Formats: sequence, C-alpha cells, structure tokens
Amino acid sequence: MTAAPGDAILRAVDQSALAVAMRGELWLYPAVEVLHICGFVILVGAAIMFDLRLFGFSRGLPVRDLARHLLPWSCAALLVIVPTGLMMFSAHAADFVDNRAFVLKLTLLMFAATNAAAFHAGVFRSAASWDRDVAAPLGARLHAAASLVLWIAIISCGRLIAYV
Ligand code: HEM
Repeated sequence: MTAAPGDAILRAVDQSALAVAMRGELWLYPAVEVLHICGFVILVGAAIMFDLRLFGFSRGLPVRDLARHLLPWSCAALLVIVPTGLMMFSAHAADFVDNRAFVLKLTLLMFAATNAAAFHAGVFRSAASWDRDVAAPLGARLHAAASLVLWIAIISCGRLIAYV
C-alpha cells in the first residue's frame, strides 16, 4: 500500500530537529504551551471585550477608539500564538492531525477569522454613525455573538485536545 503524500510531510515534521527538541527537552513543551496560553488570553480577551462593547456595555466608550486600542494587541498576540502552536504541533504532528478536537479547533479558527474579516469589511465601516451612546446595528451584534460563541468553542477544543 502506497503512503499518502501527507504521511511523508508528517514524518519529516516528526523527525525535524525542532520536533525532537520539543519531545526531548523536559521544560521546552510546557514553556511553549505557557506562551501559547499567554498569547490567546490577550487575543481572546480583546475579542470578548470588544464583543461586549458591541452588545451595548460601556456605551459611552467610542467603538472605534476601543478597536484602535485592541487590534494591534490582537495582531501581536497572533505572532505568539501561531508559532507556539506550530511548535507544539510539530512534536506530535501525526497524532494531532488525527485528533478531532484539534481539527475542529483549526476549523473554528477559520470561521472566527472569517467572521472578524467580514465585520471589519462590512458593518464596521459605518461605525462613525454608531460610535458611542447608541445601540450598535443588528449586524454588528450578530458578528459579536458569533465571535463570542466561536472563541469559547475554540478554547474548549484546545483544552480537550489532551483528552480526545
Ligand atoms: C488563535 C487562536 C488559538 C487559541 C485560542 C488556542 C487555544 C488553545 C488552548 C485553550 C489550548 C490548551 C492549552 C492547555 O490547556 O494547556 C491549546 C493547545 C494547543 N494549541 Fe492552540 N490555540 C490557538 C491557535 C493555535 C494554532 C494556530 C495552532 C497551530 C497549529 C495551535 C496548536 C495547539 C496545540 C498543538 C496545542 C497543544 C495541545 C496539547 O498538548 O494538549 N493552536 N490551544
């Protein structure tokens, strides 16, 4: 039986110097996981705080000012989350691709990214008209609701990876 092309890539990742170090060094994997957690605490924390503002909490706080504050931190957090996630992935690549919680997590991540992009390219462009002291339009609140549900599901999947 011929091996699937993906198998060769997974074997190469598994045998890479990085993967060997991630499996071999006692403190490396936990240290990388702590960085991963610090990263998504900032990203998901920022997303949820923004969603709560869109739901109408702290209506006096201008939405665009809040976005201007939170977006750079969210992007910086991604620069920590993605490399640390890939480092952990490399240690047990073949197991992770068969892990339903891991696959679902990455799928939900794509939905969360699409939801955020659609918000910024769509209803957020009219934010000047609902910046403060008025309710955000229904479209914005629906994006906020989707974001809240998706990020909680992503974190749940991340935690469940070790149990599935
Ligand atoms: C931006 C969104 C992300 C969030 C919110 C997130 C969340 C999580 C959570 C909650 C955990 C469990 C941590 C723990 O309980 O110790 C985790 C672990 C993990 N994540 Fe992520 N993650 C994100 C992105 C990524 C990416 C892009 C990858 C890359 C492939 C990735 C790969 C992993 C791996 C391999 C684990 C380790 C599982 C284990 O050893 O148990 N994550 N993540």
